[in-house]
Amino acid sequence: MRVLVTGGAGYIGSHCVKRLGELGYEVLTIDNLSNGNKWAVLYGELKVVDLSDTAKVREILKNFNPDAVIHFAASIVVPESVKNPIKYYKNNTENTLNLLKNLIELDIKNFIFSSTAAVYGIPDTVPVKETDPLNPINPYGRSKAMVEQILQDLSNAYGLKYVSLRYFNVAGADPEGKIGQAYRESTHLITRALKAAKGEIPYIEIYGTDYPTTDGTCIRDYIHVSDLIDAHLIALKYLLDNGQSDVFNCGYGHGYSVKEVIYAVKKVTGIDFKVIEADRRPGDPPRLVADSTKIKEKLNWGPKYDDLEFIIKTAWQWEKTIS
Ligand SMILES: NC(=O)c1ccc[n+]([C@@H]2O[C@H](COP(=O)([O-])OP(=O)(O)OC[C@H]3O[C@@H](n4cnc5c(N)ncnc54)[C@H](O)[C@@H]3O)[C@@H](O)[C@H]2O)c1
Repeated sequence: MRVLVTGGAGYIGSHCVKRLGELGYEVLTIDNLSNGNKWAVLYGELKVVDLSDTAKVREILKNFNPDAVIHFAASIVVPESVKNPIKYYKNNTENTLNLLKNLIELDIKNFIFSSTAAVYGIPDTVPVKETDPLNPINPYGRSKAMVEQILQDLSNAYGLKYVSLRYFNVAGADPEGKIGQAYRESTHLITRALKAAKGEIPYIEIYGTDYPTTDGTCIRDYIHVSDLIDAHLIALKYLLDNGQSDVFNCGYGHGYSVKEVIYAVKKVTGIDFKVIEADRRPGDPPRLVADSTKIKEKLNWGPKYDDLEFIIKTAWQWEKTIS
């Protein structure tokens, strides 16, 4: 079974490539290394290609002839998307459309898409369900919501089969310690807190302490990257077994506040670091938690690492190995 992974040199994609390789899938990665690393691709060939090079991508697809494509490649920083929306619509929407056009022309039918909780914007009800309205509030979220719409239309028109996975806050690292998050610059809370613990940054900021939550800070649903990869493997099997196109939330169904996460990072690392309380950032929902009933019931997915301290431990183990 052959699987092509875009963005397989990045944080989540590299964990997927590792798992596919361990399970005996033939895997090929396309990544332009803009935010990924060669060393992170532990199985199969890495083609250093930008997805905007549609002719080259087509040639790779034609030669490899995958049974499925898992599409992680994207630009991922929300504030950057506000400053430079063209980059996000080009990379996340246009490049995905071109990839899909190639798949349809080459009769490659199965597609798994990295969507995001950002498609919900500021939800009216939490935990948020797949059927709740999509109201993204920034170009990053909109660039992904547009792809979800495109996927529906292409699925109806051309018989493309897809699973769109809406990730909540992905965190942690490979429990074997071989790979982990190595962004050029991380905006993720757990990673930044660990960098503060390491002394790599002088302090960490809490954006807003007056939200209507128990301790006034925002609540997010943190999912361990290995559990998220399980969801991809299950979705892959589902599609290959002729499952119909669908959309699933990927989260644990409960959340932790920013203060709870910082407390847990201090506990796991044993290091006290400086924390500064800052103003709210525009567009941060007070609570963003997945209703994960659908993926549990329909795909029989279940988390193995639903434990904040374990998530932090794996991330810390990884963080200590990189400079
Ligand atoms: N990390 C999270 O918490 C989170 C949450 C929701 C959704 N997602 C989605 O998951 C996916 C993976 O995210 P990640 O955190 O691993 O990010 P990442 O930046 O580590 O991975 C993305 C990879 O894609 C590559 N890439 C980007 N543009 C490319 C292009 N034009 N051509 C070829 N390669 C390109 C980058 O070099 C990088 O290796 C993204 O689609 C992101 O939107 C992530």
